[in-house]
Amino acid sequence: MSHYDWIWGNAPPLLKRHSEVKHALLRQYLVEYFLTLVPLPHQERIQLTIVDGFCGGGLYLNETGREVLGSPLVILEAVAEAKALIMARQQRRKPLEIDVQLICIDESRATLDYLDRLLRQRGYGAELESQKIQLVSGAFAERCDALVRRAHERSPKSGRALFILDQFGYAAVPVDCLRRIFARLKRAEIILTFYIDALLTYLDGKNLASFERATGIVGSVSADELDALKQNPRWRVHLQSSLYQSLTAQCSARFYTPFFIRPERGRGDFWLLHLSQHWKARDVMTTTHWSHHNHFAHYGGAGLNMFSTGYIGKFDDENRLQAGFDFSDLAAAVSQEKMLAQIPAMLAEGGEGMTVEQFFLSLINTTPATRSMVEAALLALHHGGEIRVVDEAGDATRARVSLQSDHVLTLPSQRTFLFQFGAA
Ligand SMILES: C[S@@+](CC[C@H](N)C(=O)[O-])C[C@H]1O[C@@H](n2cnc3c(N)ncnc32)[C@H](O)[C@@H]1O
Repeated sequence: MSHYDWIWGNAPPLLKRHSEVKHALLRQYLVEYFLTLVPLPHQERIQLTIVDGFCGGGLYLNETGREVLGSPLVILEAVAEAKALIMARQQRRKPLEIDVQLICIDESRATLDYLDRLLRQRGYGAELESQKIQLVSGAFAERCDALVRRAHERSPKSGRALFILDQFGYAAVPVDCLRRIFARLKRAEIILTFYIDALLTYLDGKNLASFERATGIVGSVSADELDALKQNPRWRVHLQSSLYQSLTAQCSARFYTPFFIRPERGRGDFWLLHLSQHWKARDVMTTTHWSHHNHFAHYGGAGLNMFSTGYIGKFDDENRLQAGFDFSDLAAAVSQEKMLAQIPAMLAEGGEGMTVEQFFLSLINTTPATRSMVEAALLALHHGGEIRVVDEAGDATRARVSLQSDHVLTLPSQRTFLFQFGAA
């Protein structure tokens, strides 16, 4: 199903503002991804596969009538930009080869034909000939296994691959595909679009079973529960929350970002899920969200345990932070304040004795904060005497300036006493 038509010689389709924002995020994330992968000037080569699973024709007109690039060209430009940045920042004398094979899939042959012509027109003819850029027609789900095999052949040791799965809707990427990607490729990352608003509107007790069969997202709610839930004024909030929990639990990713894109007008919120197997990948994506704060939201509270407050249906512009969470400077300040209150309580409730690394990994999927934000909160609490951070020898002075992964978090003895006293 497509709402886009690419016909060579006609004007390209229109791109809504929120999709332009999604492209900006993709571009920035990819640049950061490569900067993280090549931190040192002695590395000469990295190899990976990028799959653009719902690639489209590669060109649009935006709301102001200007031509803007689609995801295949955004990806190609981001790789080139990252390479130029790495060369400049590292003042390299050694060359760097970023060996990316970009595989673009679309179920529409006409769309791929448009993309082929566009790529040649924009100077990528040689890459098409050498198959550095490969165009594959078909439905992504049917091509998934072959793509995973291909990515694995190219990077058997590192298992490094990026899957950009910009589906239109919510049913074209069954959860089983996600599991197969992570099972074979240990450093795979997936950026998945999921039109949650459309699903919420569609789903009812009668079609739940067929939705579950098509997507493999099972057990969020029973048919009877769903019909009863829809009587509750906050049903969208509750259903989103349980669908989110099922999807993230069942896709077998260890780390995920639950961020949402909110069109400026009306309904149509979608999730832009980043799924990965490494905390650093998640942290890079979270950092990217902070730098796009005007357009992204996650539904929930600031600080930690963001889902304990549940999701919300819509934003109230007069009261944004209470209604949800944006990634503004104010949101950063509120997050910090909340963490300052939450962290000592978390340590008192069983977190005491954890290393900085263990503590961070235990909460990463529940917070919009980056690792450096969590560490800043830990340091502030340590300086204020609210918690103690000690090194392996039990010395608290070493952690005054910066934290290390193996530093241990404890509560000052008086504080422990106060908690015990309060509980008695
Ligand atoms: C929203 S458009 C392309 C968006 C593109 N990723 C971008 O950002 O420029 C979605 C594309 O997915 C294609 N498509 C729809 N269902 C598909 C499927 N099951 N497998 C592969 N492609 C599909 C459509 O033909 C359409 O070109």
